[in-house]
Amino acid sequence: MKLLSTLFAAAVLAAPFVVVAQSPDDKVTCRIIYVPTEEAVVEKMLEMAKVTKNDIVYDLGCGDGRIVCMAAKKFGCKGVGVDIDPERIKDCMATMKKYGVTKDQVDIRQGDALKVKDLDRATVIMLYMLPEFMEKLEPQLAKLKPGTRIVAHDYPFPNLKADAIVEFKGPNREHTLYLWTLKAKDSKKEN
Ligand SMILES: C[S@@+](CC[C@H](N)C(=O)[O-])C[C@H]1O[C@@H](n2cnc3c(N)ncnc32)[C@H](O)[C@@H]1O
Repeated sequence: MKLLSTLFAAAVLAAPFVVVAQSPDDKVTCRIIYVPTEEAVVEKMLEMAKVTKNDIVYDLGCGDGRIVCMAAKKFGCKGVGVDIDPERIKDCMATMKKYGVTKDQVDIRQGDALKVKDLDRATVIMLYMLPEFMEKLEPQLAKLKPGTRIVAHDYPFPNLKADAIVEFKGPNREHTLYLWTLKAKDSKKEN
């Protein structure tokens, strides 16, 4: 309850909208909370991940796609954004136009971010997802390459100690950002 109220409060402060939507997968009905990460915080997350032009940056639950678009625009890297909500996919198209990035640079997909088949291509993963999502995603770290950097906004993985935790003062509130750089042993542990 506290977590949800934190996100709702963040939504009000950060601006836009909290949307409750239904998954396109008929078997799953889930509440989906949309709170975009403020651009200053996105910049900090990209800096923490040390993104370069050689990276493939995934945002699981990409919202309006700002993280992958900003990464592609600023660093010339590739981006993959996945969101379950079709409204967010429309937002992503607008964001791609805003940042002037092409489909060759940024691949936006509608679907369940827990079922991304090519997640092992990622060299950087960005997350701003609720704890239950983080818990379900954590076992999938096993299939990622050592050296992959993961930055999570406000909610960490429950069982993997972060390599760095940064308290970042955004325009409206304090944000906690977590960084992991996967090592071979992290993968083994998750196997
Ligand atoms: C808190 S917002 C973060 C948006 C964006 N990553 C950002 O930081 O600006 C969470 C997003 O995750 C999406 N989402 C929630 N559960 C999802 C799932 N299982 N698969 C894909 N997207 C999901 C929601 O639609 C929402 O857009």
